[in-house]
Amino acid sequence: MKQAKGIRAGLFGLTIATMALTAPLTQAAEQCEDTPLGETMEEMKTSFKSLRGAAKSGDWDSIAPARAKISELAATAADEEPMKLQDIDESERPQMLEDYRAGINRLQELLDELAAAEQARDLDGMRELVAQLGQHSKDSHKQFKKDCDD
Ligand code: HEM
Repeated sequence: MKQAKGIRAGLFGLTIATMALTAPLTQAAEQCEDTPLGETMEEMKTSFKSLRGAAKSGDWDSIAPARAKISELAATAADEEPMKLQDIDESERPQMLEDYRAGINRLQELLDELAAAEQARDLDGMRELVAQLGQHSKDSHKQFKKDCDD
């Protein structure tokens, strides 16, 4: 009887210890997904997928709305801040924020070039720009996205 109590107390202690150890990990993951910028970016991913699909099949009618939506989301992202700013020294934040906004401006420029390719019905040019957008997104994430798995 005494032994059973001891085991129960031990199990209880183990449960509490496990919860205490895993809580910070769960919290970190949630914080990574729940930022306003994270949500804007998730929407951008959906529109970028549509854009990629439309570029592949040459569906001009679907390109314009997807491009316009990404552009609208980029304008929202320009007013938001990367979470990574919190990880660096305060003195370095203004520079990173400036670089981040320049990256968003570059995204808008590529979207403007895409609009010109649309006007010209230049399918090759448009596919090349979609590839550049993908590369720019990849490079920007390397530079500005906090690694949420650590
Ligand atoms: C077509 C272009 C882009 C797409 C489809 C895209 C997509 C995404 C996705 C899916 C995430 C993950 C969101 C999450 O964690 O829930 C993300 C995060 C992020 N992206 Fe982008 N992205 C694009 C361009 C850019 C550009 C140009 C920049 C910066 C100049 C940027 C900066 C970031 C940052 C900083 C995060 C982390 C969120 C945070 O810090 O709160 N992205 N993006």
